Amino acid sequence: MRTNPSLRSIPVLMAAFFCSITSVHAQGADTLWLQKIDLTRFTQDWNLTPKAFLSLEKEPLMIAGKKFRNGLASQTEGLIRFELNGKAQKFHTLFGLDDASCKSSSVSFSALADGKEVFRSPVMKRGSKAVDVNINLNGVKQLSLVIDDNGKGLYNDKADFVNAFIVHQGAKPDAFNFNYINKRHVLTPPESPRPKINGARVFGVRAGHPFMFTIAATGKRPMSFAAENLPQGLSLDTKTGIITGVVNGKGETVVKLKAKNELGAAIRELKVIVGDRIALTPPMGWNGYNRYGDSIDHVTVRNGVDAMVSSGLINHGWTYINIDDSWSIKPGSKDSMRMGEPRDANGMINANKKFPDMKALTDYIHSKGFKAGIYSSPSTLTCSDYTASYEFEEKDARRWADWGFDYLKHDYCSYGDVVKSKTLETLKKPYIVMRDALDKVDRDIVFSLSQYGMGNVWEWGDQIGGNSWRTTGDLIDTWSSLSETGFTQVGKEDFAGPGHWNDPDMLVVGWVGWGEWQYPSRLTADEQYTHMSLWSLLAAPLLMGCDVASMDAFTKNLFTNDEVIEINQDPLGKQAGRVLEKDGLEIWIKELEDGSRVAVGLFNRNSTTKTIKASWNVLGLSGKQTARDVWRQKNEGVFFDSFSAAVPAHGVKLITLRKVK
Ligand code: GLA
Repeated sequence: MRTNPSLRSIPVLMAAFFCSITSVHAQGADTLWLQKIDLTRFTQDWNLTPKAFLSLEKEPLMIAGKKFRNGLASQTEGLIRFELNGKAQKFHTLFGLDDASCKSSSVSFSALADGKEVFRSPVMKRGSKAVDVNINLNGVKQLSLVIDDNGKGLYNDKADFVNAFIVHQGAKPDAFNFNYINKRHVLTPPESPRPKINGARVFGVRAGHPFMFTIAATGKRPMSFAAENLPQGLSLDTKTGIITGVVNGKGETVVKLKAKNELGAAIRELKVIVGDRIALTPPMGWNGYNRYGDSIDHVTVRNGVDAMVSSGLINHGWTYINIDDSWSIKPGSKDSMRMGEPRDANGMINANKKFPDMKALTDYIHSKGFKAGIYSSPSTLTCSDYTASYEFEEKDARRWADWGFDYLKHDYCSYGDVVKSKTLETLKKPYIVMRDALDKVDRDIVFSLSQYGMGNVWEWGDQIGGNSWRTTGDLIDTWSSLSETGFTQVGKEDFAGPGHWNDPDMLVVGWVGWGEWQYPSRLTADEQYTHMSLWSLLAAPLLMGCDVASMDAFTKNLFTNDEVIEINQDPLGKQAGRVLEKDGLEIWIKELEDGSRVAVGLFNRNSTTKTIKASWNVLGLSGKQTARDVWRQKNEGVFFDSFSAAVPAHGVKLITLRKVK
């Protein structure tokens, strides 16, 4: 726990003040002051911990010009829950936006008693007088306090609780971060030991470039693989299911894949398209950044590869092992093998102490059936100040191809220092330069543009040869970040398709931490289901950013539901669009290749359970439809003109609807 220096200087006067308040309660009743609980139990954006007695800037708490001494400074999105066991009487607080917030800040405060909203403040702006909140807790088992941003975005929204306390009987109520008490319910049914082929049904490659595709199959090992009608130039390793080779002419071939074990056999078709487009389905894989941040090295990557295999994730179509920022060196760093120089005399980027042999590493990645991803920036330095590609684009592209990389994330970052203006032309330029460089190497390298959506990149990313482009800033593991990023993808659906995808950033589930220490994602279980469901409907790249080795059963269930993955990997490559948005409820629909079926997400952005009705006229459907619960992999029956479901707070019901013939 972080210690708060301000706690050491609480005036004696304050202690006397507590005593006087406590003494007014009925005999046996006790007072739990909000600022006295373990403040690390609060969920807040960017892992901030609330401050007791002072604002986040260590100034006195101040709401609408009035100073307060006894309280707690928090920040959206704030969440905490208390276990009361029916032994509390009352919750009181004054609540308001701290005067140190920005002009555009706004927050709301709500309290939930046993899941039901019992109080909601008006929208509080800078200068709004504090609201006086008094909640009767008789018989209440759980109290949740929620600070949200009214869906207006995070503008440094600082919120203060003043004179906030719970009056209770007996033991002090326990305070919990949402994660610790939200039951992580596993919905994905257990894997069958019989063979089943998963993952992409279509694969694109350029003529004359190295081909590699791994048949993803679940089922008991040993398993053997076969492939009928492979294009000339390709061969299959029947033990590993890895298909490699080179195809010289353009064209389409339907290959029949087979996986067999002692319990039976599975057959599935794979369309191989030798043409001009690659990444015909959204890239799926692992990228260590959300877990390791700057502390990545070759050992961490190898461990990541091993965990992807031993956990069985590889059998569900997870393909890429991507190295993010910090693999190169900071100029002058002791990690250099060559007197602090990141490049050799010919300008070629070097291996270094963290990654002493890149070729050996990509060989290892490939030998296990994965593809390898690398990272750079069009600037001189990357986001974390490591050597980047400015004016070395061709040399770097050649080096990465020689090393055997299959994917490049090109991250804008400090390119603004190199070229100050941000016209459409200057925004496109660095990516055109790198595209040209990649076109000069004889290797398929998926080109991922990371520039956070500037200049509406989705409108031109495909034109300049990007295979995916980040549409937003960095996603973090809070509900406000997730919901504001995910649900604002609406309207971008016309710009995505096979070979060119909108990318709302990497998944923030599992154990994350962006650096030295790690913790389980602060998203609740339902929020994590929303995350995976929405990203699948959006046909977004699925890049998990967590430590796979410490993956729990719940997280594994998120990554191994083949019916969810199938929606993401559908060969038609359509991104879902929103067909309804009302009172915090949203319905999204995705067309699938099999024209008789659609995927539908019913999302509840409210903090209590709501029933959502999807009627056929909203969905553009007609006639009888069989509904299937995708997470549970279970049919729900035949429906005539609508489908309704009770959807938990921040949760989702993901279904497919199939027209009954
Ligand atoms: C930016 C990107 C992130 C990550 C970091 C690395 O913030 O958006 O995805 O690559 O840089 O420093």
